[in-house]
Amino acid sequence: MKTKAVRVHEAGGPEVLRLEEVDLPSPGEGEVLLRHTAIGANLIDIYHRTATTGQYAIARPATLGVEAAGVIEEVGPGVKDAKPGDRVAYWMLPGAYAEKRIAPAWRLVKIPDDVTDEATAAVLLKGATACYLLHDIWKTKKGDKILVHAAAGGVGRLLCQWATHLGATVIGSVGSAGKVEAAKSAGCAHVIVLGEQDFSTEVKKITGDVGVDVVFDSVGKDTFESSLNTLRPLGMMVNLGQASGPVPPFDVSKLAQKGSIFLAKPTLATFSRNREVVVALANKLFKGLQEGAITPDIGLTLPLDRVADMHKAIEARKTTGSSILVP
Ligand SMILES: NC(=O)c1ccc[n+]([C@@H]2O[C@H](COP(=O)([O-])OP(=O)(O)OC[C@H]3O[C@@H](n4cnc5c(N)ncnc54)[C@H](OP(=O)(O)O)[C@@H]3O)[C@@H](O)[C@H]2O)c1
Repeated sequence: MKTKAVRVHEAGGPEVLRLEEVDLPSPGEGEVLLRHTAIGANLIDIYHRTATTGQYAIARPATLGVEAAGVIEEVGPGVKDAKPGDRVAYWMLPGAYAEKRIAPAWRLVKIPDDVTDEATAAVLLKGATACYLLHDIWKTKKGDKILVHAAAGGVGRLLCQWATHLGATVIGSVGSAGKVEAAKSAGCAHVIVLGEQDFSTEVKKITGDVGVDVVFDSVGKDTFESSLNTLRPLGMMVNLGQASGPVPPFDVSKLAQKGSIFLAKPTLATFSRNREVVVALANKLFKGLQEGAITPDIGLTLPLDRVADMHKAIEARKTTGSSILVP
């Protein structure tokens, strides 16, 4: 069988993305054949497209994308918990930018009947990230003061919504004035525009010189050092991404100087390591969605053959909320 997939043969700009026809084998032991209906685009796809060294370098040629929703068309030997016709989705499984794919059944989660495929592709990876960050990395409680960078973005917006739902006061930062409203509507009590305001000074003002309990920093290189200055003693710095580049080597004695603060560098891969963890996180995520702790917000939908335009928009920081590719 053949399918269309967006492949990269070398690292580079959006021009290296090629929609190609590729062979698909029959599903093997423990695998399913899945027809995608909605594919989530994530900043990590751009790290995978461009990286030649480090944490995000991938073996090429490769099909990009790590998240999608779809329908099972065929199951391989030994698959017990899934059948043709099931609506399912997955996160952090390379090879999502395709009309169809072979996927290991244990990585798939069922989509609840009242949740659309598009909503799932909008919130699954990003919402699962927000979920484990707010429940497992930092145990968020009423009254917490939280700083979220890229607050109008995919993960950022859901972090702000869920943290607000849990009773925290959220300060969001955005890269341009046009994103302020999006951050406010995600629940931010205060929004700081990076470049226009010095965010560590602003956070100190907002918190009456106390500092925040936790910072969720997905921007990395440009914000890391200043983010440390926004924390109260014994607060936690969570570096979850590197939109502006990787954080340079760091002198850990600074954690002591800044008030015995904690530093975390968590990854969703740890929260996808086995079936039990995947199902528990998906259940919590869909419950959060059904209870209104988070809502999907799809800022950009494009067909799969316009994936280069989507990457350009994400890299140019023009997107808010989630971005979806439709096969
Ligand atoms: N650790 C984990 O488990 C995990 C899981 C998923 C995602 N993540 C991380 O979460 C972050 C958000 O991912 P996402 O897919 O939802 O993307 P996104 O937030 O929708 O897009 C990235 C945002 O980062 C901000 N940014 C700041 N500096 C930038 C730069 N130099 N270039 C591009 N963007 C820049 C921009 O917002 P402004 O214009 O408002 O600054 C941009 O919109 C990423 O860093 C990603 O790696 C981490």
